[in-house]
Amino acid sequence: MRIILDCDPGHDDAFALLLAAASKEIELLGVTTVVGNSYLENTTRNARTVLDLFDIDLPVFAGCDKPLLRNTVVAPNIHGSSGLDGADLPSAKRPIEKLHAVEFMAQTLERYSDVTLVPTGPLTNIALFMLRYPHLVKRIKEIVLMGGGIAFGNVTPAAEFNIFADPEAAKIVFKSGVPIVMAPLDLTHQVIVTDKEVNRMRQMGEKFNLLADLLIFFKSTYKKVFGIEGVPLHDPCTVMYLLHPELFEAKDYYVDVETKGELTYGQTVVDLWHSSGRSPNAKVLLKADKERFFNIFFEKLQNLKEV
Ligand code: RIB
Ligand code: CA
Repeated sequence: MRIILDCDPGHDDAFALLLAAASKEIELLGVTTVVGNSYLENTTRNARTVLDLFDIDLPVFAGCDKPLLRNTVVAPNIHGSSGLDGADLPSAKRPIEKLHAVEFMAQTLERYSDVTLVPTGPLTNIALFMLRYPHLVKRIKEIVLMGGGIAFGNVTPAAEFNIFADPEAAKIVFKSGVPIVMAPLDLTHQVIVTDKEVNRMRQMGEKFNLLADLLIFFKSTYKKVFGIEGVPLHDPCTVMYLLHPELFEAKDYYVDVETKGELTYGQTVVDLWHSSGRSPNAKVLLKADKERFFNIFFEKLQNLKEV
């Protein structure tokens, strides 16, 4: 399957990127970056650094450096000031493509009619693409996104970071009519990286040792900020769904995004009881088989070459 990964690396974005690149079932056409976990300059550098680490031949297209309407929010308390703190990674060498991420999406969707968009950061690039190229929206096969929460948020009690960082963009995407698969916090918090997974990563080789260092940092910020032992591997849930949808339980719900609430700005409002009378617009992932998830995760990462 053909995908574009739109990301804000970001520790978990980095693993989503590596999982996609390591999976022969996926034709990763390109990587687009957006402001989110860190400023665009950082998320774009981080995406290039991760690809360079394993000599993965893929173009990186920088996208939006600010949300559609709201002020810019970043998450140094979780991902560090670089957006990918915690490991002594070689500096990025590959160039940033000249084409803007949104233009790359347009050219790709003009060429192929079976592309899945996989956003693992704020939905700014996706929404801007939809606004700029409305005639190409129907050519998007599916959007498989990490974002939102049913019962809780992580930036505010109501809002999850990717949505909170650009609620207006998220609303456009959820109202677009494109088939959506949503991996909310309620799902991603079932796929927790513990010391067991860090040690398993460390044993895979020198480069994986650096990845283990990234996980240690990511775990430390979750302990500090949320008091959680272990860290949810949010973004790879999107790629794992594409590879093995049978690992997940899901239900179709109507989902909308709050863009006016004082306490609820950026909340994904999931209509669990169909009380809105609106037809479902998203397949919401509810449960994951953690054991099988990590077995497949590590099995796939073995395909990455130690260059
Ligand atoms: O709330 C978790 C999401 O926000 C993940 O995508 C993480 O990378 C951050 O972007
Ligand atoms: Ca992310």
